[in-house]
Parts: sequence; C-alpha cells; structure tokens
Amino acid sequence: MRSHFCGRVDETLNDHSVTLCGWVDARRDHGGVVFLDLRDHEGVVQVVVEPDNAEAYMALAGASYEWCLRVVGRVRPRVSVNERLRSGRVEVLAERVEVLNEARDLPFALHENPNEEVRLSYRYLDLRRPEMQRMLRIRGRLIRALRHYLDAAEFQDIETPILTKATPEGARDYLLPSRTHPGAFYALPQSPQLFKQLLMIAGFDRYYQVARCFRDEDLRADRQPEFTQLDMEFAFVEERDVQGFVEAMLRQVLHEVGDIELVDPFPCLSWIEAMRRYGSDKPDLRLDLELVDIAEQVADCEFKVFTEAAKAANGRVVTLRAPGGAEFSRKQIDAYGALAAQYGARGLAWMKVKERAAGHAGVQSPIAKFLSAETLAAIVAISGAQNGDLLFFGAGPWQVVSEFMGALRLRLGRDLGLIKEAWRPLWVTDFPMFERDRETQRLMALHHPFTAPKVDDIDQLKADPDKAVSRGYDLVLNGIEIGGGSIRIHHAAMQSTVFDLLGISKGEAQAKFGFLLAALKHGAPPHGGIAFGLDRMAALLAGTESIRDVIAFPKTTSAQCLLTGAPSPVAPAQLHELHMQLEASGGAVAEDEL
Ligand code: AMO
Ligand code: AMP
Repeated sequence: MRSHFCGRVDETLNDHSVTLCGWVDARRDHGGVVFLDLRDHEGVVQVVVEPDNAEAYMALAGASYEWCLRVVGRVRPRVSVNERLRSGRVEVLAERVEVLNEARDLPFALHENPNEEVRLSYRYLDLRRPEMQRMLRIRGRLIRALRHYLDAAEFQDIETPILTKATPEGARDYLLPSRTHPGAFYALPQSPQLFKQLLMIAGFDRYYQVARCFRDEDLRADRQPEFTQLDMEFAFVEERDVQGFVEAMLRQVLHEVGDIELVDPFPCLSWIEAMRRYGSDKPDLRLDLELVDIAEQVADCEFKVFTEAAKAANGRVVTLRAPGGAEFSRKQIDAYGALAAQYGARGLAWMKVKERAAGHAGVQSPIAKFLSAETLAAIVAISGAQNGDLLFFGAGPWQVVSEFMGALRLRLGRDLGLIKEAWRPLWVTDFPMFERDRETQRLMALHHPFTAPKVDDIDQLKADPDKAVSRGYDLVLNGIEIGGGSIRIHHAAMQSTVFDLLGISKGEAQAKFGFLLAALKHGAPPHGGIAFGLDRMAALLAGTESIRDVIAFPKTTSAQCLLTGAPSPVAPAQLHELHMQLEASGGAVAEDEL
C-alpha cells in the first residue's frame, strides 16, 4: 500500500517516486497551491499539490486535520528548508491523492494541549500525538532491554494466573464471581508474590515475569488500579545477592535506554535514617536539604510545644533550613504552614536568620522570645543556617513530624529550584516488620506478610514485634519508589507465627494460605526477590510525572476508563448466571447470602 514512511523521506530519495500513507498534520493554501504536512508514526513530510493536478486538487477539497490519505508523488528539494525535520530538505510533489478516510468533528486539536478528560475519552487521537508515541516507545524499549538482560542471565519467564486467590499487598482485591461455583469468587492478583515463591520451591531457581497487577486502592499520579511489574525471584540468595544483581541490571538497562549513568554501588540507607534525615521512606537525593533534630537543644526552652515533643517518648523536634528564605513574605510562610494540617501536624514555626552572630537582634521569629540566647545560638549552629536563610520547625509525634517535614523539604526544594538534574538511586533497608493500624492498633505488615524478619528466632519475634526489623528493601530513584522486595520466610513455623501476629487465625491462615504453608514444609529453599513498577520506571525515563502518560489506555483517578466507559452495568441475565443480584442501592449481593 505504501513504499516509504513519511518521516523517513529525505534527500536520498530526491527524484524518486514514493507512495505514502498518513494523516494530515497541517494544511496551508498559498496562491492555489496546497501544502500538506503528512504524518505517520515516523514523523511528517511536506506534500505539495498544485492546481494543475486537478484530480488530486479536487480530492483534497475538504481535507483538513487528521484526514487519512494515500499520496503518490515525486520527491524534490524544498525551497524553505526545515532543519528540525529529517524530511526538512525535501517535499513530495503529489501526482495522485487518495482519501482513505475523512475526519470530521474532532473533539480536540492535536497541536493544542487539551485537558486530560478529553484526551482519555478519545485516547486513539491523543496517542496519535508524537509526544505520546515517544513516551510509549520508551516504555517498549525499557521492557525489551530488561527482558533481554534477564533472558541472557538465564532467568525463566513464567506466566502465573490472573484468576486466582487473594494475594495481600495492602490494597483491596478486585473480585470476580464464579459461574460454576455459586457464591465463590476469584481474586485478581495484587502481585504474583505467592506463585513466584512456589516456583522457587518448585526448583526454577530464577524467575521473571512482566506481570499485570490489580489493586483496588486510592489512585494518584503514580498509581493505577492495574499496572505492570517486572517481577523477579531468586532461590538461595541473601539481600546483597539480589541487590547486586539488580544494580548491574539497572546500570546496563538505563544506560542503554536512557543514556543514564548510575553510581556503583548504589547507596543504602536504613528506613530509620531515611526518616530521620529526609522525613521519607523514599528520599529524593537530588536535593541536599536535610532535617536536623534539635530535641536536645530545645529540651528546656520556654516554648511548650517544643519541650513537650522533645520529652515525649515518641516525640520529635526538627528544623529545616530554607536557603535564602529570609526573603519570604508572610503570605509565603503561611502557605507553607497551611501544609501542616494536610499531614495532621499541629503547626509550623519559623525563624528568619538575618545576622547569625547577632543573637536575638539578628533573627525574626514569633518563637524567638521563648528561646534563651544559648538555645538560639545552638539551634542556629546545628541547623547550618547562613545569613539570609529561614528555619522552619516541626514538633510533635515522631511519624507525623517526620512525614510533614519531609513533604515540606520536597516542596521547598521544588519552589527554590534546589533539585539537581541527576539520577540518584538509593536502597532503603531495615524497615520495621510491622506497623500499627492508627485506629485499631492492630499489627499490619509493612511490606507483605511473606517478608522474613531479621531475627530467626520465633520467640524473640513474638516478644517484641513492634521492634522487629524486616529483610525487606525498596529501590528508590529520584524520590520515586520504583521497586520493592525482600528475603522471604521459608519455614512454615515462622510463616504461621507472622500470620498469628497479624491477627490471622489458624483457620483463616489455613483457608487463605494453606497451600503456601504446605509448600514451605516440602523442602522450600531460602529465597528472595523484588518487583519493579514498570510504569513508574517508564514515566521517569520519559520525563513525565504521571504514569498515565506511559500506559496506552489508563484509568482515571476514580478507576474509570473514559474511552470504553468501564466499569459499566451488566444485564440482569448475566448477573443471574453468576448467582448475583443487585442491592436496591446498586451494590451486588451474592444470591446465597439473600
Ligand atoms: P510492591 O507492592 O512494593 O511489592 O510493588 C512493587 C512495585 O510496584 C509498583 N507499584 C505500583 N505502580 C503503579 N500503580 C500501583 N498501584 C502500584 N503499586 C505498586 C511500585 C512498587 O515499588 N510482591 C511484592 C514484590 C516483592 O516482594 O518481590 C510487591 O508487589 O513501583
Ligand atoms: P502558637 O503559640 O500556638 O501561636 O504558635 C506559635 C508558632 O508555633 C506558630 O508559628 C505555630 O505555627 C507554631 N507551632 C504550633 N504548634 C507547632 C508544632 N507542633 N510544631 C511546630 N510549630 C508549631
């Protein structure tokens, strides 16, 4: 149907006849001559239709943006050269023009930047835009390079079920009613976690899969209800074996796909240190600012907010330096203070440091009056504040203050342009094994319940689970958690203990995970692994903040597909086959529950 791609026509084809297919990217009419930019996946080329070619001219009468054409013509040098295009030195003088399809009532102009709702509703048009094509191609190249690397390293690519039983990763499950087993449901996998562990028990040694995962959770720019992992598992490994392999893989693949050089080895921070210095379990190391603890310095000052937090068992008082912040207006400072409420923090105190050496006379702050000259000097010294800086202060419960000040750190970094152009990977390790639910105070797994604790001893784990540290690790790149994994529990007794600590009864553990507990008793090898969020990696490489940009047909933040209209109602007959009925309010109820 065609001889060449539009975007690939160049001087080497001068005087040749070509047949092109594509879409009208632009149309200019000049003194009877029609100039078209014809676009395909490779780019655009200028097509010229002269009025004496009556047939072609007529064919184009109404042709406008996004009409689909086939053009036969001859390549010739172009008068006004466009250096930015591969085809910029030539044009195609049309001999024949065939309209393959018209395009009428376009919902938006591809050259404008329409809002995302419209783009998602007509995603096929949105995807015609070269920028979208570029981003999806990067995704493709990333996946290809990773597969290539893992195939060469003799990892076995194995598919695991989509219709399965719940795998807990901390989100709600998507459930599918079974037609053949009334009242029973499949769950879509939140990850292939248990199957990959079973594959290690089955003796495959090294596995990978580009796996679709499903999680019904609150969505944001970096979360989708269905997303793709590069999932990996290794038998007979410890943390450093997995990490070393992954570092080499990412260095090679990111170099290949993004021309990115990553340090060797990747730095590593314990979770506690990450929280202490950056107020985040996924610190962005491109930003040098750090939180500085000042509980010791303020323990005996007159500001009760500080002293109470400094003395509380689980309290924290920190300061964060805003370079040049002495210039902030009151309005700017208040805007940062307003962030506090979002994080459940009680307030944000501040101090402008105008003249370090001048004590009280050199600072401006609503809390200076509560601080002695010594305390003030000690705070200024430990914070590293220079003349012209502003210090922010947070005080209160450890976790709340850490997270709030960590978020403030990022916000300041962005506002002040302090985030460097760089690629900064980081391992975060030594996570707490459990966290407590804020309301019920029940223990919950911080990673997933199959993550091994650092202690091998069951009694020791039971004695103080709040203090237990896990063998989990996250890989963070420029402040984004791109991967997470762990060394797994490979003894049934330890696995049962962890279920127990999580408040999962023996019966429930048996019903949900009996197959795993049995497998662990059949010679399970020590094993561990990791999974990467491919959407997040592709978004980083493509330079976009939203993973929706690197997913061909993504869902909105309310988990809808605007293109197809999913999720959508189904016919009563279909529900009946599935032994379901809708509640009057619209919710489904399994028939045997009625
Ligand atoms: P985890 O839950 O940390 O680990 O997921 C691994 C990585 O997947 C990405 N990710 C997501 N990306 C887009 N949308 C989402 N909703 C979403 N949720 C997670 C993140 C994350 O780091 N089975 C374990 C892995 C293991 O232990 O080997 C797991 O799924 O980049
Ligand atoms: P107040 O005495 O409550 O008016 O607070 C004086 C200053 O301290 C204000 O700038 C408050 O925002 C700030 N502040 C109040 N509570 C906290 C807190 N928990 N941490 C940091 N600053 C606080």
